[in-house]
Formats: sequence, C-alpha cells, structure tokens
Amino acid sequence: MRFDREKLLAYYADEPGDISLGDIDLARIPSHVSIIMDGNGRWATKRGLDRAQGHVAGVDSLREAVTTSVRLGFDVLSVYAFSTENWRRPKLEVDLLMKLFAKTLVAELPLFHQENVRLRLFGDLEALPEETFRVFQRGLDETADHDGMTFALAVNYGSRAEIVRAVREIARLAAAGEIDPDAIDQDLFASKLYTAGLPDPDLLIRTSGELRLSNYFLYQLAYTEFYATDTLWPDFSRWDMLRAIRDFQGRSRRYGGV
Ligand code: FPP
Repeated sequence: MRFDREKLLAYYADEPGDISLGDIDLARIPSHVSIIMDGNGRWATKRGLDRAQGHVAGVDSLREAVTTSVRLGFDVLSVYAFSTENWRRPKLEVDLLMKLFAKTLVAELPLFHQENVRLRLFGDLEALPEETFRVFQRGLDETADHDGMTFALAVNYGSRAEIVRAVREIARLAAAGEIDPDAIDQDLFASKLYTAGLPDPDLLIRTSGELRLSNYFLYQLAYTEFYATDTLWPDFSRWDMLRAIRDFQGRSRRYGGV
C-alpha cells in the first residue's frame, strides 16, 4: 500500500540514535505484519503495578502500532489480543480485558475513520460478553467501507479451533454435494479461515522474549519471517517496528526454493 512520505518523515523525525528511517527500504515494506503482543504483566510487575495497568499501557502501545503501520503503508496489521486459552486467567483479569477491548475500540473509532482503517476480527466472537460483542459489531459495521489498511484483532482466537471449524464447514459442503472432495485445494481451505481474503503475514513479531507460537496462525505462518524481541509489549515503539523491518529486509526469503 502507498504511504504519505511527508507524514512518514514527520512521524519518524525524532531519531533515537541506533536506527532511522533511512535504514529501511521503503520500496520493500512488508504487506502484512502480525504481532503476538506479550509482556504486559511483566511490564507492570517490574514497576510494582498490578497486571491491569500493564494491559492499559499495552493499549497505548497498540495505538502507536496501528498509527506506525498506517504511516509505513502496511496493507494489514494483525494482533493476537486474546487466545482461546486466555480464559484460564483469573476472572478479574479476563473481565478487565473484555472491558478494555470494548472501551478501547469505542475510543479509537475516530482514529479508524481518520486513517481509513478497516477492522477485521478473528475468533469465536459469540462467546464474548454481550457488550464487547456489540461494540465489535459496531466497529465492523462502521469501518466496512474503509479501504485503507486492515487492522485485524484476534480475540478468543485459537488456530487449531480455526482449522477444525474450516474442516467442519468444508465437510458440510461436501456432504451436501456442493463441493467435490477432489476439488478441495489450499485456496478453498484458506477461504474458510478467519483470515480469508488477506495475504499471509510476511513478518511475525513476538515481544517479551518468548519463542512460541501459542496456537497462533498455524496455517498462515508457513513462510512467514519470525522476529522476536525482548522488549515488553508496552515498551514496543515505532522504532522497534523499524528494527523489526530492518531485520526482515535482511533475510533472504526462498519459500523452499534456492
Ligand atoms: C500479553 O501480556 C497481553 C495480553 C494477553 C492481552 C493483550 C491486550 C492488550 C495489549 C491490550 C490492548 C488490546 C486491545 C485489543 C485493546 P501478558 O498478560 O501475557 O503478559 P505476561 O506474559 O508478562 O504475563
């Protein structure tokens, strides 16, 4: 996607010293960047705060990541906000996260309009609290006509559940005689995933030093470049995004070839 050069230069004016916009090739910006946002709890604990404050700080970081992604001209930014396994956290923390998702989305809708960002949601939304579900639906409706960057939020998302759901739907179509099992190919399968219609991620970033996929995008990450950083999510800045892209642009992507 195209970016606004003037806005980009202004956004990256205040250089920290070890990296600048000139270190990356603006002609080779990844199309889809995905982030496993991790480390909110540790960020808070390190400061003697409670975990909730780490998540609140994580929202500021996410807002910056969305703006950074628009400025750099990504087509898609996707983030893993809540997994199917995260329900195992203390009820108080889960309740807080659900409220935070709803509150944040309402608060950020003007930014989505201003930057022409379209919202997508990945996951089993039916299981979310009613208010969160309602606000998500509003976000989808209000941004459906936007044709700038897509911002995708994975909430109550698990990749294995997503794959099983796709298989079930394809089996249903086959049983009804609507598709021939021999006609099932990768394109058809991908069209039944939450990510239907979007390019696979070029770059996956995981913060906080963990080196796991945590049931995220098991199908979609087949040829994705992986970038791990020790930076905790609330500290992840526009400069960390540049560092990740610089690293990504130094890789040789061969897709199994030579
Ligand atoms: C990981 O930190 C973060 C989460 C499970 C929640 C992600 C939520 C946000 C970043 C808040 C903003 C999101 C939206 C969509 C408004 P952790 O709690 O696993 O941290 P830890 O590994 O240090 O315990």
